[in-house]
Amino acid sequence: MERFLLVGNGAREHSIAEAICKSEKVRLFAFMSAKNPGIMRLAKNSGGEYAVGDIHSPGQVLDFAKRHSITLAFPSPDAVLAAGVSDELLKAGISCAAPTKKAARLEWDKAYCRELLQEFKVPGLPKFGAFESPAEASSFIDSLGGKVAVKPAGLTGGKGVKVVGFQLKDGEEAKAYAKELLVARHSGLEKVVVEERLEGEEFSLQAFCDGKRVYGMPLVQDHKRAYEGDVGPNTGGMGSYSGAGSLLPFTRQQHYDRALEIMQKSIEAFYKSTGERFVGILYGGFILTKDGPKLLEYNARFGDPEAMNVLGALKGELIGILFQMADGKIAAQPSFFKKASVCKYLVPEGYPGKSVANQPLQIDMEKISSLGARLYFASVNEEGGTIYTQSSRSVAILGLAGSIFEAEKIAEAGCSAVKGRVWHRSDIGTEKLIQRRIEHMKALGAI
Ligand code: GLY
Repeated sequence: MERFLLVGNGAREHSIAEAICKSEKVRLFAFMSAKNPGIMRLAKNSGGEYAVGDIHSPGQVLDFAKRHSITLAFPSPDAVLAAGVSDELLKAGISCAAPTKKAARLEWDKAYCRELLQEFKVPGLPKFGAFESPAEASSFIDSLGGKVAVKPAGLTGGKGVKVVGFQLKDGEEAKAYAKELLVARHSGLEKVVVEERLEGEEFSLQAFCDGKRVYGMPLVQDHKRAYEGDVGPNTGGMGSYSGAGSLLPFTRQQHYDRALEIMQKSIEAFYKSTGERFVGILYGGFILTKDGPKLLEYNARFGDPEAMNVLGALKGELIGILFQMADGKIAAQPSFFKKASVCKYLVPEGYPGKSVANQPLQIDMEKISSLGARLYFASVNEEGGTIYTQSSRSVAILGLAGSIFEAEKIAEAGCSAVKGRVWHRSDIGTEKLIQRRIEHMKALGAI
């Protein structure tokens, strides 16, 4: 019997726990910062256990791991990796299928990542500069005609990037934002990244990575903006979809291959530069432009919500792949059912600004399973058998089917099985929105 440790407690981790528990030879042990009811049940049913503590404390995680004789660990969220939790587990001789703090720097330090990839001539980078001085950032913004994206170098939960034409009016606002980030030493790092603003459609490519090779999963498109029609403030992600197969309706095989090549060259560059292998999930955030895919960012973990899209369609056992990854040799390309997926997040009223928290949710689980939908708990709390919202995204509903549009109908119907002071974007995965993406790519000459 394997004893698997999962660190984290969002909907992404709930879906990882579910995929792990498909194997009957695993006991799930979960170390969480709040009680995720779905993960708690999976842990108990597998004969494992859970505890609540500081998931960013390497010492606390290691104590829990030792107490339960863990044979494989998976610290999942970005901030946990940046806190060095994997390093502590590895030092104690516990196998770990997630990157060390040094390897996760590809995510937690955007300036480092960009400069490393540039040094090793990895293709697909937008024009960028990483700056410590507001004056230098300003002249670079001018040199790009003010059409830029400004990114804090460190972790911001997906909410720190501001783009001229969206959250920023013009180059002057971009300069002011860059200065604000630098003065505040935002996220503890000393640099701000300024990038040319690219026009295109974004997509995510997640890959299992054994340090030597990246093994890609189906492409997914997330929806960062809060409101229907892709307007409003940025969020952690309101929902996502994937096609039946590896591609999205607005991408072609050559785009997938190019994105994977960029990722492969990136882990090779990391190895050449540091002598260390990147082991774990590598998530490439790309934008498809008229000149092909360009890299916007890396995450050193599964995406949230993208994990739910891909894990729902994974053939075989996730645990086996994670063991191989931790051992530094994935035996074969993992395969996926030809299932499309649509994932929608229900979020508290007021999200992403002033969320109305501590509100009860009534969830009709029978309806959800009769629809063939799946529900994943995110930022909720269970007290006396009632589920309460917290301030972040509450629950995710996933539909899987032969086409995106069928999957969308399942996810949408699933959302109606959750009652309470929550809302969701009903346009994600609809024909209208996807057609708009295709037209956009055609108009740009990207397809
Ligand atoms: N969906 C974006 C992220 O996980 O960072």
